[in-house]
Parts: sequence; C-alpha cells; structure tokens
Amino acid sequence: MTETVKVLIPEEDVDKKIEEIGRQISIDYSGKTVHLICVLKGGAFFMCELAKRITVPVSMDFMAVSSYGSGTESSGSIKMIKDLDESIEGKDVVIVEDIIDSGRTLDKLMELLKTRKPNSLAVCTLLDKPDRRVVDVKVNYTCFNIPDEFVVGYGLDYDQKYRNLPYIGVVEFED
Ligand code: IMP
Ligand code: MG
Repeated sequence: MTETVKVLIPEEDVDKKIEEIGRQISIDYSGKTVHLICVLKGGAFFMCELAKRITVPVSMDFMAVSSYGSGTESSGSIKMIKDLDESIEGKDVVIVEDIIDSGRTLDKLMELLKTRKPNSLAVCTLLDKPDRRVVDVKVNYTCFNIPDEFVVGYGLDYDQKYRNLPYIGVVEFED
C-alpha cells in the first residue's frame, strides 16, 4: 500500500492563524508570564511557532505521555513517558497540543496537572476534530476545526513520518 499526502491547510494559513492566536494569548495574559507546556512529540512545531509570536514573557516545559489503547483509538488512561522538569505551582499554564480527537488524553492530562496547583490552566490546540469528541474537555484556543480525517504535518505523524511537513495534510492510501 502506498500513501500520498494532500494539502488540507497550506503553510501560509497555518502561520497566519498561529500569529492570531499568539496575539490573543498576549492580550489575555497581559502582565503575566505564560508557562507553555508542550505535549511531545506532536506539539513541538506548533509550540515553537506560537512562542515566537507571544509578546508577554514566556517560559516553557515539555512532557510526553502515551495513551493506552489499540490502533487509532485512545483509551481512558495515560502513561507518563517524560514528566515536566519544573513545578507548575502558582504558574499560568497553557498546554500546547497538536490535535484533540476523543479528548481522552487531554482530559487525563488536565486531571493530573490540576493536582499540581497551577494558578491557571488553559489549553491551546493546533487542530480539533469536534466530531470525534468522547470526553467533554474545555479548549481555550483552537487554530482549526477539521473534519474526521487522519492528518499529518506540522508535528503530526503517521507511523512517525511527515512531522516535518510545513503544512497540514491528509493521508490517502492506495494499493
Ligand atoms: P485523543 O486522546 O483521542 O484526543 O488523542 C489525541 C492524540 O491522538 C493526539 O495527540 C495525536 O497523537 C493522535 N491523533 C489523533 N488524531 C490524529 C490525526 O489525525 N493525525 C495524527 N495523530 C492523531
Ligand atoms: Mg498529542
């Protein structure tokens, strides 16, 4: 089976939208420091681009979790692969995600981070597939809502490939 990737959201559109969200975050967190938490690996490209466009002070940390589950379905529990380096107590935290699908991973992650007593906890995602939502999670900043299709690029992978594409693409399979 071979795959091809079709452009869904071109690079210029992604960049323009990240600029807009960065501006909004800078307004909303005026006078504060934003502590960005990148959920690896998918959120890495988005977080770097977003951070460059935020004009209030920014600090950053990284974590990696995997959701237990088979195939493309995530389950209700997450496994910590890499925890944060620093405490988030008293900080204004923004979780930076690549995509929210069922919402299960994010829901569990938020539950965990809330126990660490941040001053505030918000979520910023590059992509959202609202039709796929199973758990009702609050998302504060969304760059794009997309239909229920498997996407790659800008950090998102298929089988660890295509993360480096500068646009969002849809994978199509042919045999
Ligand atoms: P959730 O727990 O179902 O919300 O799973 C979210 C995670 O599934 C994301 O962080 C991605 O790693 C992965 N994922 C969901 N949809 C896609 C997609 O279309 N392309 C690539 N990864 C995806
Ligand atoms: Mg993710």
